[in-house]
Amino acid sequence: MPSISTDPVDYNIFGGHPGSRTRMQNPLVYSGTLDEFEQNDLTPVIGREFYGLQIRDLLRWDDQHMKDLAATISQRGVIFLRNQDVNPIEMKDFIVRLSTLAGCPESSGLHVHPLTEEGSELGDQISVISSEKQKKGGGLTHQLSDVSRFASAGWHSDITFEKVPSDYAMLKIHTLPKTGGDTMWASGYEIYDRLSAPMKKFLEGLTATHDATFFNDEAERLGNPLRKGVRGSPLNQGGELRTQHPVVRTNPVTGWKSVYVNKGFTKRINGVSKDESDILLNYLFNLVTQNHDAQVRFKWNQNDCAIWDNRSTFHCATYDYDAARAGDRVCSLGEAPYLDLGSKSRREALAA
Ligand code: SIN
Repeated sequence: MPSISTDPVDYNIFGGHPGSRTRMQNPLVYSGTLDEFEQNDLTPVIGREFYGLQIRDLLRWDDQHMKDLAATISQRGVIFLRNQDVNPIEMKDFIVRLSTLAGCPESSGLHVHPLTEEGSELGDQISVISSEKQKKGGGLTHQLSDVSRFASAGWHSDITFEKVPSDYAMLKIHTLPKTGGDTMWASGYEIYDRLSAPMKKFLEGLTATHDATFFNDEAERLGNPLRKGVRGSPLNQGGELRTQHPVVRTNPVTGWKSVYVNKGFTKRINGVSKDESDILLNYLFNLVTQNHDAQVRFKWNQNDCAIWDNRSTFHCATYDYDAARAGDRVCSLGEAPYLDLGSKSRREALAA
């Protein structure tokens, strides 16, 4: 792996980080290879379901099919595939290939979550999503906890506390309650498009601090030491779990701008007063949680899979059940976030 400076002065809102730049020279252009498969957009702005496709078969696809799939996921935000016969090793192979063909930096691999148990049965790079485990850990995310009574408290993008966060993630749910446990996704492109022109311009000069220091307490409660070694990129290591990213970032796969602050991890907009930061963040979070026409809600059946682009979406689990719910999640790392001022919004690009 190349040696990479972790000096914060190397970071630049418009250039990203020299140690973790996208390899995409231009956005991917969808070439039409997926048109033969039955598919349906679940809302106008986000989500597409494919019918009759098995990820195991996709592993044998040529590069053009995989690039078209990456372009589709990044444009639609999230895709859904029902009843998948795919194991965690195949999930990892698939997501690595997707991320590589979508231009992730050479130094980016699969993420190791700081809360993943050392020596975990499925390997370091699979996060086991388990309601039973969460109950043992204190169940912080449950909407009936004392932390929050709002189901919307859990909206987030994965691992934005890392200097090099996730491009794609894939979740397979294999154990589920009879009803409940749906997951929702919202489009960061659409949130950006709902801002006024002066607000867009203002936010485009700003960075925000993302912080998951609370994972230290969670690690203690679970009795697992925090993973401080390399977590999928040489830039992601140590116990700090705090970083800065641009408030608006460009997705290199689509070339579209997205709002990139989330309720789970973004604590502060930098360079403005705390009061101003609170007002701005609340407004942006409300755009995500209160616009159900920027969201898609997925009702899982056993062994369904979702694959999403974490750069331009937010998601939120629903804790409205008692029976066990469990699945496996794998997250690849993309580039350090950057903003290309010349990039377009989704609506501008689709209108052109
Ligand atoms: C996640 O936040 O990645 C998991 C979502 C879910 O359990 O539905």
